[in-house]
Amino acid sequence: MTDQELMDRARTMLRFSYAPYSHFPVGAALLCTDGSVFTGCNMENSSYGDTICAERTAVAKAVSEGHRDDFLRLAIAGTSRDFCWPCGSCRQVLWEFAPELEILCTNAAGEIIRFPLRQLLPHGFGPKSLKQD
Ligand code: THU
Repeated sequence: MTDQELMDRARTMLRFSYAPYSHFPVGAALLCTDGSVFTGCNMENSSYGDTICAERTAVAKAVSEGHRDDFLRLAIAGTSRDFCWPCGSCRQVLWEFAPELEILCTNAAGEIIRFPLRQLLPHGFGPKSLKQD
């Protein structure tokens, strides 16, 4: 699947976004090694802190379908002019399962940029960090 195709899947999710408070819709699409794609959108809550980002929705869908160690690429689409970057919490959640993940971001002009998660979350804390020896 091309970067453009994966981003199109992310953008398609914008229509399902539930963002009545921020009015900031986000869509995400997570590609696994077997070609399966798990999509997500942000889902806000009147208790604002209970909001779930699009990326974490996609990860929860993947993990709950048995995918855990085969994440390849994640595309994130917003509607703002600038690139929609993954928030710190999403970077941490992604790191748990896929430190080698590639992140695709897009902007209003339709440009797509690609960053390794390792670059977006240097020295991430993960399962290995909990090993005592
Ligand atoms: N949001 C995401 O869905 N992903 C991110 O990585 C950045 C933020 C959502 C959360 C909230 O619904 C809205 O964008 C504004 O923060």
